[in-house]
Amino acid sequence: MNATATHVDSSGVTITDLHKSYGKVEVLKGIDMRVEPGEVVCLIGPSGSGKSTLLRCINVLETANSGTIEVAGFEATDPDVDLDVMRRHVGMVFQQFNLFPQMSVLENCTIAQTKVLKTPLAKAQEIARDALAKVGLADFADRYPDQLSGGQQQRVAIARALSMQPSLMLFDEPTSALDPETVGDVLGVMRQLADEGMTMIVVTHEMAFAREVADKVVFMDGGVVVEQGDPADVIGDPQHERTQNFLSRVLHPGGID
Ligand SMILES: Nc1ncnc2c1ncn2[C@@H]1O[C@H](COP(=O)(O)OP(=O)(O)OP(=O)(O)O)[C@@H](O)[C@H]1O
Ligand SMILES: [Mg+2]
Repeated sequence: MNATATHVDSSGVTITDLHKSYGKVEVLKGIDMRVEPGEVVCLIGPSGSGKSTLLRCINVLETANSGTIEVAGFEATDPDVDLDVMRRHVGMVFQQFNLFPQMSVLENCTIAQTKVLKTPLAKAQEIARDALAKVGLADFADRYPDQLSGGQQQRVAIARALSMQPSLMLFDEPTSALDPETVGDVLGVMRQLADEGMTMIVVTHEMAFAREVADKVVFMDGGVVVEQGDPADVIGDPQHERTQNFLSRVLHPGGID
């Protein structure tokens, strides 16, 4: 078995009536969402609709005000949950790759393993090299982040997350900061992960990716889920006016509506 094989988890993600406010402003207004193990869910919606906030609540970078989130067999919203243990099962990839600039690619992929999981260095390096091979960067282990293109750095960020052998991967607009010519490489890695059965929640404006790779598309606006379902339905035949307006803006950027 490959050392970075997906941790098998039978629980997926269940979000029930989730509310989150910043001060008096409620930005998540009762979110219900289910992600089956092995499913890829793409989260789409206009700026400010609460997509990042929802992802951040899932791995408890933000604390929800009410409602429940079950993730990878843990109740993330339980105040007594062991966050360190829970977060080992949840990998996160951000728009800005957030690599450690003073560490080599290999070190970026071993540091959390050795510090958090207490994996012996040789084993951590083996796992990291497998993860780097998976993202097509086996030969880049000794480079430093500033010696890589944006797309390569993002693939290292994915390898770094995979090195923790998570059962769920969260992606927050992973290709938005990339030059167009490197977007395809990153999406290709994500597609491969999906094909291998990784459970994924992906915030993205890449509608072709959502259409082809997602099992389910969730459209959020104003802190609520407006519409969710099969990508062919939500993207190809949206039922709600808000979804239609959003998609026409994303699919025909520059158009005046
Ligand atoms: N730390 C914070 N403090 C106060 N308000 C916040 C904070 N983080 C987000 N918000 C507000 O919450 C709302 C939802 O923000 P969020 O970042 O989740 O939206 P988003 O859908 O990810 O948008 P984008 O597509 O621009 O990334 C916005 O109105 C935002 O200004
Ligand atoms: Mg966001």
